[in-house]
Amino acid sequence: MSVKKACRGALIVLEGCDRVGKTTQAKLLVESLKNNGKPAQLMNFPDRTTAIGKMLDQYLKQSQELDDHAVHLLFSANRWECVSSMEKLLQEGTTLVVDRYSDSGIAFSAAKGLPVSWCAASDSGLPRPDLVLFLTLGGTELSSRGGYGQERYEEDSFQQRVMRNYNELKRDYWNVVNADEKSVEQLHSELLPLVTSAVAAAEDKPLLTLDW
Ligand code: TMP
Repeated sequence: MSVKKACRGALIVLEGCDRVGKTTQAKLLVESLKNNGKPAQLMNFPDRTTAIGKMLDQYLKQSQELDDHAVHLLFSANRWECVSSMEKLLQEGTTLVVDRYSDSGIAFSAAKGLPVSWCAASDSGLPRPDLVLFLTLGGTELSSRGGYGQERYEEDSFQQRVMRNYNELKRDYWNVVNADEKSVEQLHSELLPLVTSAVAAAEDKPLLTLDW
């Protein structure tokens, strides 16, 4: 009797500037996938629960200063420390919906003036996303969103540099979605079909690695 191997889950990443609505959308996507019978789990980077994540949390809340290179490597290490659990979940068939990943690492650190190639090197070999949903917003709408300005990096000229860097990083597995003037529900109904197709397409494909 042949036993069918479990289909793998998809690695779905949400990217964009701060306060664009990624976290809300990531949660909704996980709920909808589960409601549709697809195992799914939410993840977010930085994962502020680990020892490295706690250092990053203090840095982001501006209670600790660190060298830009060191911070970049901590963000990258924070992803690497999750790789084995991510790979296990994906191979068991759980789709991971990830709020920020490698592109955040590169776009934000390069906005401080670090070379893109240097920023990308420490993430080479991480699991490659099956789909990156890149959410965009007009600049003025961004700064009017609740909570904006509370953490490091939440400043308009910095966010514009981040946006320019993101645009340089786009790959064929990216989908750019304009979130301007869309309700949470409207945006969700635009994202869900993209995610559902990516989950179906990933089922029989091997998990690739980032080759920056
Ligand atoms: P969050 O608000 O989504 O928790 O992200 C925290 C901040 O950290 C956000 O401004 C983006 C920034 N960031 C980096 O600079 N490098 C990274 O690798 C990641 C994942 C986030």
